[in-house]
Amino acid sequence: MKALILSGGKGRRLRPLTYTGAKQLVPVANKPILWYGIEGIVATGITDIGIIISPETGAEVKEKTGSGDRFGARITYILQEEPAGLAHAVKVAQPFLGDSPFIMYLGDNLIENDLNSFLQTFQQQGLDSLILLRQVSNPSAFGVAKVDDRGRVLQLIEKPKVPSSNLALVGIYFFSRAINGAIASIKPSARGELEITDAIQQLINQEKQVESCQIDGWWLDTGKKDDLLEANRIILDTRLTAAVRGEIDDRSQAIGRVEIAEGTKIVNSTIRGPVAIGSNCQIENCFIGPYSSIADNVRLIDSDLEHSVILQGAQIVGIEQRIVDSVIGQRAHLTLAPRRPKALRFMIGDDCQISLV
Ligand code: DAU
Repeated sequence: MKALILSGGKGRRLRPLTYTGAKQLVPVANKPILWYGIEGIVATGITDIGIIISPETGAEVKEKTGSGDRFGARITYILQEEPAGLAHAVKVAQPFLGDSPFIMYLGDNLIENDLNSFLQTFQQQGLDSLILLRQVSNPSAFGVAKVDDRGRVLQLIEKPKVPSSNLALVGIYFFSRAINGAIASIKPSARGELEITDAIQQLINQEKQVESCQIDGWWLDTGKKDDLLEANRIILDTRLTAAVRGEIDDRSQAIGRVEIAEGTKIVNSTIRGPVAIGSNCQIENCFIGPYSSIADNVRLIDSDLEHSVILQGAQIVGIEQRIVDSVIGQRAHLTLAPRRPKALRFMIGDDCQISLV
């Protein structure tokens, strides 16, 4: 059994954050989303992992993620020249996959469940495909499945205007080698992509064994700002453990589950967990409230924030109003607010410089 993680494509929906970076590397609780997927796969015992990368962001994904040693896996990077669809990515990965069955994992998805029970169902029942489904309130934004009462999949449609159910396809799929033949027989969709939903539909039409499991734990597709904040909140809530490796002076307090990495200095500040703070940050005269993640090399002076994600190298200085529900991009600068507007809500991309005057 192998795994194929899709980390190519263009991160249109998280722009401007992903103008310069891969959306799969955007951190959730200070760890790239992609890495949670790798860890989940390795936890099933699968260590032979292919990662689809794009020409634009592939080098960054590769450099950051490495050979797989840190996860106990062996990673093969596979270049997909164009984001021509999820099924196209499988086609491009053929030399890596061979005839092996595999898990296909979309690199911007995160689920609460571990993958073991699904893998067991797939293997023990000798299926050609097992898909994961979850009830959602906006099925038109996803692939949508119609299933019978035994969970057998009857029909799949990608982002239908009029959905036939509220069951969305989660971005984690199990396939036997039969999927390769199915992909070979489909044509690009109206949006010009080779759709994995069409390939699975092909398996259904050929009366292959296609089953579904409904998940009821949380599922996050971190495509948009609010999804990213929600992913951050849930991961901090469920997986963060307290660990203070940086320095906290005696005028500061860290309350609850707070992680502070090496080289970070906290001066005259209150940190109320769950909060994750990366390495080499400078935090002075601040309140950092629950559900905040602060990446490495961030400078926060005379400012308050909560329920926000601050990316690497950002600087926030002298903002009197509390920053809430915000995502601040890499190296962005936010400085000085002499008066007090009632609230501020931000989606600020990499390299922006904002001064409130
Ligand atoms: O998140 C679940 C949804 O993911 C499913 O419900 C849909 O059926 C499925 O098509 C997919 O929809 P998205 O619109 O979210 O797909 P997106 O274009 O965002 O691509 C998902 C991941 O795959 C993302 O990490 C980028 C990567 N990708 C995408 C394409 C189109 C590639 O590596 N290559 C590609 O050609």
